[in-house]
Amino acid sequence: MVPDSMEFGVKSGNPEKQRTGCLIVGVMEPRKLTPAARAIDEASKKHLSNVLRRGDMHGGTGQALLLHGVPGTLADRVLLVGCGRERDLTDRQYRSVLENGIRETARTGAADAVSYLPELNVKGRDYHWKLRLALESAAHVTYQFREFKSKKRAAEKSLRRLTVMVPSRRELPVGEQAAAEARAIAKGTRLLRDLANRPPNVCTPSHLAEQAQELARAYPSIKVKVLDRAAMQKLNMNTLLAVAKGSHEPPRFIVLEYKGAKKRSKPVALVGKGVTFDTGGISIKPAAAMDEMKFDMCGAASVLGTICAAAELRLPLDVVGLIPATENMPGGAATKPGDIVTSMSGQTVEILNTDAEGRLILSDALTYTERYNPDVVIDIATLTGACVIALGNHATGLLSNHNPLAKDLLNAGEYTGDRAWQLPLWDEYQRQIDSPFADFANIGGREAGTITAACFLSRFTRKFHWAHLDIAGTAWISGKNKGATGRPVPLLVQYLLDRCTREKA
Ligand code: BES
Ligand code: MN
Ligand code: ZN
Repeated sequence: MVPDSMEFGVKSGNPEKQRTGCLIVGVMEPRKLTPAARAIDEASKKHLSNVLRRGDMHGGTGQALLLHGVPGTLADRVLLVGCGRERDLTDRQYRSVLENGIRETARTGAADAVSYLPELNVKGRDYHWKLRLALESAAHVTYQFREFKSKKRAAEKSLRRLTVMVPSRRELPVGEQAAAEARAIAKGTRLLRDLANRPPNVCTPSHLAEQAQELARAYPSIKVKVLDRAAMQKLNMNTLLAVAKGSHEPPRFIVLEYKGAKKRSKPVALVGKGVTFDTGGISIKPAAAMDEMKFDMCGAASVLGTICAAAELRLPLDVVGLIPATENMPGGAATKPGDIVTSMSGQTVEILNTDAEGRLILSDALTYTERYNPDVVIDIATLTGACVIALGNHATGLLSNHNPLAKDLLNAGEYTGDRAWQLPLWDEYQRQIDSPFADFANIGGREAGTITAACFLSRFTRKFHWAHLDIAGTAWISGKNKGATGRPVPLLVQYLLDRCTREKA
């Protein structure tokens, strides 16, 4: 069994009185004790000042110093974490201080920890924000994916509980709300990461469907319907089926409905690209790093993760999740460059490159959302390599036909640090997907590849407010720590939370 995710708690009280495996407190540069560190210093008769005076720690970011048996305290260990200069404490720096603190704590034998780092002053951020990030980032950095390691690690050694401290009992309600949100975001993020990290022989379209059904079993507020190939044929989902044709693995169209609204209301529709492996099809990809195309279902997994978090928080709104799931394989029956298909919308598409498959499966899914009369539709997709070139792995690409929706998503990204950056969706770009034979083509040439992909999608979203998140650069990292990042679950959950707050007001 996988060890369960970390438990979160919120408390108030004096640091020297905390009975815990590890007390996490900050030291600012230069050798400046934070309030919690000062309290420990006093209780321990200047133990910390003496250590610092000997020069073991200056307080710069990235520094950490583990102390055992600090007199006057009830903690097994005290971890001093460098926080840098006070005036430099930005969102980014605060996050890196938190992550450093947890990484160092996790290396000790401590099973639980109590952190005072949220007492740091972060420009423009309140306790709710500071506490939530402290908890969320702890779950994030301690995440491990070991499902396919034959040697199981001893679970006893891992950090299993984190308590964050607030200055007084007055902040406890805010803290509890932050913790509840952090738990939900952590859970949704973890669901995404586990699914995406699973190998493509395990994480197939049917596997995604089973996971959706699993969610429906766990939460009565979620209903799931799964369409098979025959059902898709009846609906004329021919662009989706054109991608599935080359594969022996059966495609699935997954529909999730989360109902949380108190009264009848238009739902938010989330549409996630679920290509469980993208070889490129007949327009086959080069061999190098092709294994990473198992992550081509991160959009789909982010829909499952976000709906899971919404259900966990019992958010008072309705969400529908739509997941076209398929492999993209070459084969005797596969779609050929030049094939023309009629999409569910009735528009014809010339498939000039079978590797531009994400937009094909999304187009039928977007058409399908019409039956829900959604308030907004957000699709999430590892859609274009061009987006990785444009924005790297820092920002998700955002394109939209409705500026207020785009603004809301950008704000949610800023709040969570799971940021997006908007690209234009001007009419000028539309010509690039003209086709001499069909209504339009599925590729638009080398220039502005992320934008022309969105142009393609825009032909299927004229009837509603829509935004597209291209997560090709942000959904996973390559290299030695290869793996899914969990993005953009934090952004999406925050967007839903913001909608609930707005509705209440
Ligand atoms: N899944 C890929 C996009 C991708 C590539 C994401 C690399 C992350 C890293 C998508 O299906 C694809 O192959 N897109 C093509 C489109 C092109 C043929 C117009 C691309 O970006 O090369
Ligand atoms: Mn592709
Ligand atoms: Zn793809």
